[in-house]
Amino acid sequence: MGDVVGALDQGTTSTRFMIFDHGGNEVARHQLEHQQLLPRAGWVEHNPTEIWERTRAVIETTLNKAGVNKSDMVALGITNQRETTVVWNRRTGRPYYNAIVWQDTRTDRIAAALERDGRGETIRHRAGLPPATYFSGGKIQWILENVEGVRRDAEAGEAVFGNIDAWLLWNLTGGRDGGVHVTDVTNASRTMLMDLETLDWDDQLLSFFGIPRAMLPRIRPSSAPDPYGVTRAEGPLHGEVPLTGDLGDQQAATVGQVCFEPGQAKNTYGTGNFLLLNTGEDLVRSKAGMLTTVCYKFGESKPVYALEGSIAVTGSAVQWLRDQLGIISGAAQSEALARQVDDNGGVYFVPAFSGLFAPYWRSDARGAIVGLSRYNTNAHLARATLESICYQSRDVVEAMREDSGVSLDVLKVDGGVTANELCMQLQADILGVPVSRPVVAETTALGAAYAAGLAVGFWRNTDELRQNWNEDKRWLPQWDDDRREKSYAAWKKAVERTFGWID
Ligand code: G3P
Repeated sequence: MGDVVGALDQGTTSTRFMIFDHGGNEVARHQLEHQQLLPRAGWVEHNPTEIWERTRAVIETTLNKAGVNKSDMVALGITNQRETTVVWNRRTGRPYYNAIVWQDTRTDRIAAALERDGRGETIRHRAGLPPATYFSGGKIQWILENVEGVRRDAEAGEAVFGNIDAWLLWNLTGGRDGGVHVTDVTNASRTMLMDLETLDWDDQLLSFFGIPRAMLPRIRPSSAPDPYGVTRAEGPLHGEVPLTGDLGDQQAATVGQVCFEPGQAKNTYGTGNFLLLNTGEDLVRSKAGMLTTVCYKFGESKPVYALEGSIAVTGSAVQWLRDQLGIISGAAQSEALARQVDDNGGVYFVPAFSGLFAPYWRSDARGAIVGLSRYNTNAHLARATLESICYQSRDVVEAMREDSGVSLDVLKVDGGVTANELCMQLQADILGVPVSRPVVAETTALGAAYAAGLAVGFWRNTDELRQNWNEDKRWLPQWDDDRREKSYAAWKKAVERTFGWID
């Protein structure tokens, strides 16, 4: 076995470990789901201990499958569901509370209060984010205010915060026995606590949420020639491998799609959809409901920024058809069912289960199915669900164009839902631009591997990575403009029906 790089991808629904060779080809992988805890309407939690156990298991199984041992692995990268918040005790290693997931809306009052008294503008300007339940700051505040003993321990430097990357890095590097407490700039840029210009925690932003600075991890580059730490012999790799890559999953996918030039964009179709446009060293402040975020920072180079359109519910709407409505038995069946009809039969489904994120940022929105008549069937609903994924993406593409003046001539896509050929065709039809999927659709893990491998010289530079990207399939628009624009106008009307359902 020649040299390889490992990538841990800890996502919203599952954890996977992948191994890549120098050509960016997959050598092996293993993946395990974890529980979605839904204790109340709008609340979504994960058990951090379960996630750490799954992490250990997927790493060990992948190594066994591939016959790789740790001496073949030159570096390890981590990528993660972003914003999801863990607070744990660094002496005992135990979390104080379940991880509060990015989709969780329990902090809507905290977010609304920020908007009411003007602090929202400071957050927008400094952190690049609108006050919303989505980000970590309010989730940390909620834990500090609602979980016994956390504030006292936080002030004493014993209760610490991390997103899932920091939680896993701490555990992989020894946990309570000397684990490092670090995160990277891309994850930190999703907390509402980091200044996008200084790339450091901002005392005024911390004061808005009452968060003691001692709780926070050290912010490091996304690709670190000086490693964050090394794995421990007693951990799942059974030896020391340098940890040199750490990026939020959507930024990792942007790297995996080799969007290294300003103006290049990708759209990832997972639980939600996340469209990121590389804006280079320019910090573009959005007027149209996009987020400004750090795209990556490699070593000592300057940070590269992105505009992001985050959509909360896309693939998870298909899961809802399966788990809550029971009209399909698996995600793949959504395509077969939707193909039974030629169009949506007038039905539009806006899956605003967590309110609406970009470009609307309406936490008072809730889901709606409109345009129903007696004629409609499950097949129309399945089709409307796939279309909702594509219409929401069009909403962010329009916002992106308004903010940046960039019109896409092709949309690079990746993620699980891109296996759905009908959905990809609909995306090309609804956007009116070609849609292109790469051969390696696991761009998130690949991006983490690239960040880790660049740091140790396994890949010399980004030019070398560009050569690894190859197109697998391209879908061309088939609708005429009239159909495209009439349908989009109907979608916009449906979106308006979702506003104002929560006080
Ligand atoms: O911001 C949330 C995002 O990082 C989640 O991604 O792929 O785990 O649904 P995913």
